[in-house]
Amino acid sequence: MAEKITSTSKDGERIAPSSEFKKQATISSLAEYKRLYSESVNAPEKFWNTQAKELLKWRKPWRKTLEWKEPHAKWFVGGKLNVCENCVDRHLGTPRENKAALIFEGETGDQKTLTYKQLHVEVCKFANVLTGLGVKKGDRIAIYMPMNCEAVVAMLASARIGAVHTVIFGGFSSESIKDRVNDCQAKVIVTADGGWRRGSVVELKKNVDDAVKGCPSITNVVVVKHIGHRVSMKVGRDVWYHTLMNDASHKHAAKAFDSETPLFVLYTSGSTGKPKGVLHTSGGYLLGTTMTSKYVFDLKETDTYWCTADIGWITGHSYVTYGILSNGATNVIYEGAPNYPEVDRFWDIVERHRVTIFYTAPTAIRAFMKWGDEPIKKHDLSSLRLLGTVGEPINPEAWRWYYKTIGGERCPIVDTWWQTETGGIMITTLPGAAPSKPGSAGLPFFGVVPKVFDDAGNEVKKGENGKLVLTTPWPSMLRTLYGDNKRYKKVYWSEYKGVYFCGDGCKQDKDGYFWIIGRIDDVLNVSGHRIGTAEVESALVSHPSVAEAAVVGRPHDIKGNAIVCFVTLKQGLEGTDELRRELRDHVGHEIGAHSKPDEIRFAAALPKTRSGKIMRRLLKDIAVGKEIKQDTTTLEDLSVVKQLQAQD
Ligand code: PRX
Repeated sequence: MAEKITSTSKDGERIAPSSEFKKQATISSLAEYKRLYSESVNAPEKFWNTQAKELLKWRKPWRKTLEWKEPHAKWFVGGKLNVCENCVDRHLGTPRENKAALIFEGETGDQKTLTYKQLHVEVCKFANVLTGLGVKKGDRIAIYMPMNCEAVVAMLASARIGAVHTVIFGGFSSESIKDRVNDCQAKVIVTADGGWRRGSVVELKKNVDDAVKGCPSITNVVVVKHIGHRVSMKVGRDVWYHTLMNDASHKHAAKAFDSETPLFVLYTSGSTGKPKGVLHTSGGYLLGTTMTSKYVFDLKETDTYWCTADIGWITGHSYVTYGILSNGATNVIYEGAPNYPEVDRFWDIVERHRVTIFYTAPTAIRAFMKWGDEPIKKHDLSSLRLLGTVGEPINPEAWRWYYKTIGGERCPIVDTWWQTETGGIMITTLPGAAPSKPGSAGLPFFGVVPKVFDDAGNEVKKGENGKLVLTTPWPSMLRTLYGDNKRYKKVYWSEYKGVYFCGDGCKQDKDGYFWIIGRIDDVLNVSGHRIGTAEVESALVSHPSVAEAAVVGRPHDIKGNAIVCFVTLKQGLEGTDELRRELRDHVGHEIGAHSKPDEIRFAAALPKTRSGKIMRRLLKDIAVGKEIKQDTTTLEDLSVVKQLQAQD
């Protein structure tokens, strides 16, 4: 594990927040961060007690802050609260009640705004609708929706009655819906007549119809009329959302539920083909997401915040719905693609809604880079005051571009490391507290004690690569995998005794900043050198011709692994042998000769899931010339695969 660290970040590069930002920041100095951090790790229960009392509304106080029987945690034992009440009702009767809670913009340009008061009415009605359909505390409901207000209403209404939601990303196929619904035995599924994606209709209802044929647990399908598309309605099973809502009372008294009441199950991919149902519960999860939203995004109720994630992913749960609404901010939700009808759609939205905080993923940032600066220059982005990134390591090149071109060198960038399993942000540099280092997620959040271990479970020296672990329980941690405690223990708690293994490779520098290398399975061993695929990608992307790159390993008799790179070029450029050579040399120059790619394949695009994640496992198969047998239903564009295979 003790190889030399390589990185394309300029040595010692740091970007400090402006004094203007610091002046208004909730945490405005390193000393303040350090004081709170040391309180949080030296006396965690005292710390979390104070935070939980301050940030959430409880109906009944807890008798014990943490009950930890490794690997099972219970937070705020005996305490009672209602998650929905915390996100909605508690803003009523305050100056926030008439401000926008949700500003929705559809792909076709339609808009809808719900104030906190209006959101309350919608949520109460839908809570009554669900109860009317026989949904009780503990029952599971599935939500398969476009990004719209009704999707958020459905999540909150489920929480309000103590039901457990499982949101299924709208890009999933009917097979995937079926697997998820059957795994958690959902009773009701909430969907829409369709959604828009780059001008085409996404047949959500049809997918549900196909899925539900194989889902005996489903008693009702609730259908939101979202685009006015004709769908078939099965009598007795399918019901229109608007009909039910018209008949429902807007009065609903939210009951108090135990802090450990399950809130949702969210399926995520693991190393096996079967998705893992990550289970989150109420009090701890809400505290984690509320607190991170407040401190990491420096979120104020005056902010207009926009996270581009879909509610089908954890980011859409924690930082579209729960953490943001519980802080009483204004939340922009956009249904469609970033390049529809034009590549400036996001910047148009930022300008028109005067967005102050913008949170997106590196994959999107790289696409914007590829599309050039012109579409951005057309818009006034001066309302922005903070930027965020999540989902994968961001290469310093993209970081700098984001900082300069989108943030006008004015907005701090929070690079936030976390996972579906962690529920909330775990590592990031608090924006007013400390300088950022482009490419590094930064410092641990309060109460988080990450360490970097070698294979034997010893801490590696600063600057050395290893495996990232979390050594103490935290409130928003997953509680188990739905219906599979054994797998929960095996996946997360068996690599090392007593600590949570997240699956990521990492190093910590001498200043304590964490640099995520990527999933352990994306770390290659080439002639004894441990090389992060993200590092090679970062080097490639720092070349002026490259728009995006994905790097995988291919078994090699002598070197262990050969490095295979899949590269998309900036618009108008052609992949020639000469450019191949240039890129090899460039990587050698950026990282070292041992990292020079063995092979570079060019393509118009990389195979990605509909959520924008590069499908590396698929690329690994392509790299070795294997026939593609794995599931490609989540792939955005199948023709990309053919193009890459053709270069075999
Ligand atoms: O590898 C890490 C990467 O995304 C993984 C978690 O993926 P998921 O559960 O889908 O959640 C994504 C949104 C939180 C992590 O194990 N990852 C996430 N954020 C970062 C990251 N890698 C580097 N830097 C990040 N900021």
